[in-house]
Amino acid sequence: MIEKGGRARAGEPAVVRTRAELAAALEAAPRPLGLVPTMGWLHAGHRSLVARARTECATVAVSIFVNPRQFGSQADLAKYPRSEARDLAICAEEGVDLVWAPGVDDVYPAGFDTTVRVGAVARPLEGAARPGHFEGVATVVAVLFGAVRPDRAYFGMKDAQQLRVIARMATDLSLTTVVPCPTVREPDGLAMSSRNVHLSLAERAAAPVLHRALAAGRARWEAGERDAEAIRDAVRAVLAGEPLARVEYVSLADDATLAELDRVEGPALLSLAVRFGSTRLIDNLALG
Ligand code: PAF
Repeated sequence: MIEKGGRARAGEPAVVRTRAELAAALEAAPRPLGLVPTMGWLHAGHRSLVARARTECATVAVSIFVNPRQFGSQADLAKYPRSEARDLAICAEEGVDLVWAPGVDDVYPAGFDTTVRVGAVARPLEGAARPGHFEGVATVVAVLFGAVRPDRAYFGMKDAQQLRVIARMATDLSLTTVVPCPTVREPDGLAMSSRNVHLSLAERAAAPVLHRALAAGRARWEAGERDAEAIRDAVRAVLAGEPLARVEYVSLADDATLAELDRVEGPALLSLAVRFGSTRLIDNLALG
């Protein structure tokens, strides 16, 4: 186990904040090292990433950092749920070895002046809806990879475009191996997300319509439909039945490039973004 950098007791992760503390803890960390980057408010999806890392790595590290550069508005950033004590308890339960919980100045020290911009795969969908979002994500993940130097890094498929953006960057810059992990869902189909906490009771009851709608689209594809708009229409028809759902987009795109399709002839990604009140949720299912 890790001795340098602040390990308190066996069973609890070492918690480090500064880059110097992190470097000291990493010196003592057995390899391979798996990193699970998070913004905290951990849930079953994060637990599954840690569990996967546990099976493949001698050391499992979790980063907890709410990255201001990936939020479009200060209001959205301010309302992002946070509880470090809760997150550390979950990390301890999951057998995490090392938690890096830096402050903003540890991640972006004075003079920091680099932005990472990934190309085509970052442009549509979330990239179009949230200008600058993926530059913020790619930049912080590059900082995390540079500081932690993980052998493997674990990301959920719920954030499908984020996964592709980070995988592109990691491959192009030879940073690490990105491991995609399946979306974890509530029993009613709602994908686990830190943002679910903002849903009112009525919105929470309505939100499983996302998975039902995607499943309806996939059922059309499984039945042999290859016209992409017909499949998108099947998704929209289910969403239209839920008055609390305000649809931002329904996409059926090439699985690798995320370019919108006319016909589905190969692997594709069916995805959507929908607002319930002030909470914006995304979800997706793979076709093929
Ligand atoms: O998916 C997230 O929680 C964040 O976007 C990430 C990858 C930790 C970067 O801040």
